[in-house]
Amino acid sequence: MNMILSVSLDWGIGKDNDLLFHVKEDMQFFRRTTMGKCVVMGRKTLESFPNAKPLPKRDNVVLTRSEDYSPEGVTVCHNVQEVLDYVKKYDSDDVFVIGGAQVYELFMPYCNRIYLTKFKASKPCDRYFANLDENNEWKCVMTVPREYNGLEFEFTLYERK
Ligand SMILES: NC(=O)c1ccc[n+]([C@@H]2O[C@H](COP(=O)([O-])OP(=O)(O)OC[C@H]3O[C@@H](n4cnc5c(N)ncnc54)[C@H](OP(=O)(O)O)[C@@H]3O)[C@@H](O)[C@H]2O)c1
Repeated sequence: MNMILSVSLDWGIGKDNDLLFHVKEDMQFFRRTTMGKCVVMGRKTLESFPNAKPLPKRDNVVLTRSEDYSPEGVTVCHNVQEVLDYVKKYDSDDVFVIGGAQVYELFMPYCNRIYLTKFKASKPCDRYFANLDENNEWKCVMTVPREYNGLEFEFTLYERK
């Protein structure tokens, strides 16, 4: 299982149920990487999408504790085990945990690869991701530096050691 996300310099990932950075090249990378795959997310992340609609051409799995939550076009799961059972039909490389903070934390133990876009800027945020550079279980195996309108960022790949 993989994770994909973007972080600020402080490992912030969101504020007011929105992303911190909206950079086209990063959005395109996310789209290309997850297209045709299974994406696992929390209820709040689904609701942060335009009109709270699932991502097209991907199998959208949404985690909630609510028993009567059933938006159109998503597979609803109520706990981690239910998600793990559902995604068994996929090659684990084809499953992407796409957020947010609660769901990244829950699925971290099941992931071996993290596609991380690192923006070289700080922004106010209210959701964070664990600092992988201070975590002995993960190593950065690829870094591709990019820039957009003076904002520097890197496409990186972390793998479990
Ligand atoms: N930077 C990035 O790449 C990135 C990517 C995705 C999201 N984000 C940001 O992350 C923020 C949202 O993250 P978040 O942590 O607030 O919310 P979240 O992880 O998207 O969703 C949290 C919800 O998931 C459900 N949930 C959590 N643990 C559960 C469990 N053990 N069993 C069943 N359901 C469970 C609950 O839904 P119910 O309340 O319905 O029970 C909970 O309220 C937003 O700002 C968003 O923009 C950033």
